[in-house]
Amino acid sequence: MRIGSPVLAVLVLVLSALPADAIVGGREAPVTPWAVALFDAAGNFFCGGALVEPDKVVTAAHCTVERTAFGVRDRLPADLTAVAGRADLDSGAGRAVEVAAIWRHPDFTEVSAGHDVATLTLAAALPYRPIRIGDAGPGPASVYGWGRTGELRAPSRTLHEVDVPIRTDAECAAAVPDYRPGGMLCAGYPEGGKDACEGDSGGPLTVAGELVGVVSYGRGCARPDQPGVYTRLSRYRDRI
Ligand code: ARG
Repeated sequence: MRIGSPVLAVLVLVLSALPADAIVGGREAPVTPWAVALFDAAGNFFCGGALVEPDKVVTAAHCTVERTAFGVRDRLPADLTAVAGRADLDSGAGRAVEVAAIWRHPDFTEVSAGHDVATLTLAAALPYRPIRIGDAGPGPASVYGWGRTGELRAPSRTLHEVDVPIRTDAECAAAVPDYRPGGMLCAGYPEGGKDACEGDSGGPLTVAGELVGVVSYGRGCARPDQPGVYTRLSRYRDRI
C-alpha cells in the first residue's frame, strides 16, 4: 500500500506530538551495569531485569511465559540470554550469559492478580555489582528500560530512565481497579507524561540506589491518572 503524502504528513505530526524521548518522558540512563536485558532464542529483546546477585536476575513472572497463537507457553531457561553492561543493545558492550534455571512465583496467574515476580539463575556469575533490594514508601523513584518511548512508538535500543513518584496505596487503589496493597506499588504523576511502557516489563524501579519494584503493568503508558503498577519487592525478598 502506498500512503499519500497528506496522510503521511498528518501521521508524522501526530507521532512527533507524543512525548519525545524515554521509556516515556525520560532520558538516556547513565551507566547502569545492574540493569539486565533479556533476549529470546531468536535473539529478540523481550524484557528487562535487575542483577541482585552476581548470578541472579529478578524480573517479572509474566516475562517467563510467552504468548503464542494458541495461548501461553513457558519460556525455557535454555532459550534465554541475559545481557548486562550494555546500555546500547546494538553495541557489543558488557556480557551475555545463558540462563540456567527459572523460578516463577508459584501463585502467579496474570499480572493484575499480582505475584508478578521471577528470578533467573545465570549459568555464570557476571562481573558487575548487583543492586540491593530495598523498601519503598511514597516518594521519588526511577524506572529503567528499553521499552517503548510512547504507546505508539518503537521500543528503544538504548537504556532509558525516568523519575516517577511512588504513590500511596489509597491513591493506587483509587486509580487501578485490581490494585493489591502489599504485593504491589504504583508510581506516576497525576498528569501522566512519564512512565514505563511495553518492553519495560521485568525492569527495575529504584529508590536511592536500591531496587524496590519490578515493572508489571499499566493501562496504556503515561496517561493521566493511570499510574504504572510494579511488584513490591520487599514483600517477596525472602523468596528471591
Ligand atoms: N506489561 C508491559 C511489558 O510487558 C509493561 C507495561 C508497563 N506499563 C506501564 N504503563 N507502566 O513490557
